[in-house]
Amino acid sequence: MSAMPETPALHVLNGPNLNLLGEREPDIYGHATLADIEALCKAAAGNVPVVFRQSNHEGQLVEWIHAARGTARALVINPAAFSHTSVALLDALKTLDIPVVECHLSNPAAREEFRRHSYVSLVATGIISGFGPHGYELAVKAALRLAQERADAAAR
Ligand code: DQA
Repeated sequence: MSAMPETPALHVLNGPNLNLLGEREPDIYGHATLADIEALCKAAAGNVPVVFRQSNHEGQLVEWIHAARGTARALVINPAAFSHTSVALLDALKTLDIPVVECHLSNPAAREEFRRHSYVSLVATGIISGFGPHGYELAVKAALRLAQERADAAAR
């Protein structure tokens, strides 16, 4: 594994169709664009660098989860529809030893039956859903706090 950079970044990954936020089902997902959400995440992270990415491709997301190994301080992920289908994302996330916060704009538990199961939830440290774009701010804060708590505990 590569050596941890001095100021490891927080990685924020976004799954399929989230590039269309602002246009896509605004009654469910609101009017904020993914660029707006990126700005919210960067502001919420303060001095911590943020690597913010989106892909419509499962394999690309797997590669980015691998890239977080040994370089990221924590991971926030909105796997979108892959939450409900992807054993590959689950297995990739199992290889991480950093806090993982699963984030959804909507509350999938209050929607169709098929959205009520998330493979990612099986390995997430915590889950934030239903708060729209504000949920990403909460997820970033939670992920950074968890990472700090782990660093403090390791230094003791
Ligand atoms: C979502 C919820 C998923 O069920 C859905 O497939 C998405 C977005 C959310 O952020 O609310 O694409 O992850």
